[in-house]
Amino acid sequence: MGIVIRPIEAADIPSVVECIQLAFADDPYHQWAFDTRPGKFNKERNFASLKAKCEWGVQNALFYVAKDTDDRDGKVLGVSMWMKPRSATEKQTWNEWLDEYILWFKQGWNLVRFQGRGGLNTKRYWIWKHEQAIAQSDIWTDPEGYYFCNIVTVRPGIQGKGIGRQLFEIVTSKADEEGRKCYLESSKETPNIAIYEKMGFKLVRNMVCEEGGDKCDLFCMIREPRPKP
Ligand SMILES: CC(C)(COP(=O)(O)OP(=O)(O)OC[C@H]1O[C@@H](n2cnc3c(N)ncnc32)[C@H](O)[C@@H]1OP(=O)(O)O)[C@@H](O)C(=O)NCCC(=O)NCCS
Repeated sequence: MGIVIRPIEAADIPSVVECIQLAFADDPYHQWAFDTRPGKFNKERNFASLKAKCEWGVQNALFYVAKDTDDRDGKVLGVSMWMKPRSATEKQTWNEWLDEYILWFKQGWNLVRFQGRGGLNTKRYWIWKHEQAIAQSDIWTDPEGYYFCNIVTVRPGIQGKGIGRQLFEIVTSKADEEGRKCYLESSKETPNIAIYEKMGFKLVRNMVCEEGGDKCDLFCMIREPRPKP
């Protein structure tokens, strides 16, 4: 198996979404934010929502896929989607504004098409967004901004074989060259904190999202740029 990491193409999106859905099925944040009981969680609706987010990401994020060079079907084995750093003085461009509007419109259409949110607990979603904004305003003190690892996942069954490291290093090596910091929020304490520490991240803060007696812990980690050898 020869692994190649390359920027996502539009044709990869269905396989990317499948990979994310498989790897996140047991994710603590997913379990907290969605009603995952049969008949409540709509996988097709979730697919449509992730697809819209990926279409946005193709244009606006640093978005990579891992593939096996010997696989004729081109199945996506792993994904990482990073938000570009934004310095304190940098403003959103018109294109970025337009793409956000298009994403908002697509998600609105999904809401109508599927007649609901497919099990997403919107109250919990907004609690998470609120806690995330507080955490980031506490932690993001560097005016140069941070590479933000928004999604990283490797298909179950082939985790622990070095694919995740490659999906990280394509961006962390760029961050090192530029002398920039990287940031992520992990929803799994074990084993992910240990995995991310191997990539150079350090735990800096906990984020607690709580609603209706259920809570979800998230772990905010930062990676300092490494000097060139
Ligand atoms: C987290 C994840 C992306 C990491 O990718 P991966 O391909 O499994 O990781 P790698 O094999 O590249 O391992 C990276 C490093 O972590 C170490 N590592 C891997 N699994 C580990 C474990 N269970 N415990 C401790 N360390 C581990 C590896 O030894 C490696 O370090 P090294 O290169 O110094 O030897 C992947 O496991 C995954 O998709 N998990 C499920 C979904 C998920 O949790 N996504 C992130 C949500 S925040």
